[in-house]
Amino acid sequence: MTADLFDTDESPGESRLVLGTGAVLLRGFARPVAAALHEQVAAIVRQAPWRHMATPGGRRMSVANTNCGALGWVSDARGYRYVPVDPSSGEPWPTLPAVLSALAGDAAAEAGFAGFVPDACLINRYAPGTRLSLHQDRDERDLHAPIVSVSLGLSATFLWGGMSRGDRALRVPLHHADVVVWGGEDRLRFHGVLPVPQGEHAEWGAARVNLTFRKAG
Ligand code: SIN
Ligand code: FE2
Repeated sequence: MTADLFDTDESPGESRLVLGTGAVLLRGFARPVAAALHEQVAAIVRQAPWRHMATPGGRRMSVANTNCGALGWVSDARGYRYVPVDPSSGEPWPTLPAVLSALAGDAAAEAGFAGFVPDACLINRYAPGTRLSLHQDRDERDLHAPIVSVSLGLSATFLWGGMSRGDRALRVPLHHADVVVWGGEDRLRFHGVLPVPQGEHAEWGAARVNLTFRKAG
């Protein structure tokens, strides 16, 4: 294989990029509800503000996050897990707004995973310069359900790796309103995000925000 095969070269009108038997990028899929997502995320953040969680190793995560839904993903000295209560407030996480769960269900169905009902939505905020290193999503109880990942705000490069950390990763540009769905054989693919380039997005400002929907419980 030559290096060029790892740089995606989509034609301008392309709306769907197949990333594997169980994985697809749906370009602009969230565009019709983008304004509603902005409103809903603002409301969630008023209830459960952005925070920088500690890694199990004791470092501060550079990505800020919060959650909505019955379960929220947290990280601290005890490890990674899903919990029903926001540790910062002692209150349940904000409920998953209908517009968000509908978007996740529709995107999953479009990718071939009908009937996806998420119970967790992790919301990550990347300031320019922030990255997310290669990892697998494996804290969920049921690995049969797919992951639905919605990109908002600044563009970034998604790293789409293999089943082993050392496998070469495809570099996929992700823009505002793009949705990536991965499940089935691709559910445990390593993935990450390269440092987000500087910029200013009309709606989201100097940030990339990612919503990751999961069936966690
Ligand atoms: C994640 O892997 O949890 C987030 C991926 C992304 O920000 O696109
Ligand atoms: Fe992930």
